[in-house]
Amino acid sequence: MNEQIQVMISEEEVKARITELAEQISKDFQGEEIIAVGILRGGVYFCTELTKRIAVPVILDFMEASSYGAGTESSGQVNITKDLIEDIAGKNVLIIEDIIDTGRTLSLLLENLRARGPKSLKLCALLDKPERRVVEVAVDYKGFVIPNKFVIGYGMDYDQKYRNLPYIGVLEE
Ligand code: IMP
Ligand code: MG
Repeated sequence: MNEQIQVMISEEEVKARITELAEQISKDFQGEEIIAVGILRGGVYFCTELTKRIAVPVILDFMEASSYGAGTESSGQVNITKDLIEDIAGKNVLIIEDIIDTGRTLSLLLENLRARGPKSLKLCALLDKPERRVVEVAVDYKGFVIPNKFVIGYGMDYDQKYRNLPYIGVLEE
C-alpha cells in the first residue's frame, strides 16, 4: 500500500472550531437540556469532542442509519440499523454527524426523527460538501465547508480505515 495522506484540516484547527461550535450551541440552548444524537460510525469522534465542551446538560445517545433506494425511489427510505434508546418527544435534539454530502441520509433521518415530536431538532455537522448536495438539508451548525474531495479521519473512513486519524486528510495514491 502506497497511500499518501495530505492534511486538509489540522488537529489544532479542528479542535479550535469544535470549541467555537460548542460555545455557540451552549448559548443557543442556555437553560435547556439537549439530547445529543451521534450518528454511527462517522460522527463518533466529533460527537464526543463537541459534547465535552457543551455547557448545558447533555444526554448522549446514538443512532446508525443507511439510506437506500436513492435515485430510484422518489423519496427513498432510511434503514435504521441502530435506533435511539431515548424517547425524544418534547426534547431538544441535536444530531451530530461527520459530513453532509448528498444529504440523502440526513434528510430521511430528520424526517424520521421529526415524526417523533421533538421540541426542537437541529443538525450539527463537522463538514459540509455543498457541491455534492442532491437533497436540500439545513445544517444549523457546521464546522467547515470543504471542496468536493473525499476526506478521511476524525471519524471518516475509506474502506473502514483511517477513522482514528486525529486530523482531516485527503487520500492520494
Ligand atoms: P449523504 O449525505 O447521504 O450522501 O451521506 C453522507 C455520509 O457519507 C456521511 O455520513 C459519511 O459517512 C459518508 N461520506 C460522504 N462523504 C465522505 C467523505 O468524503 N469521506 C468519508 N465519508 C464520506
Ligand atoms: Mg456517516
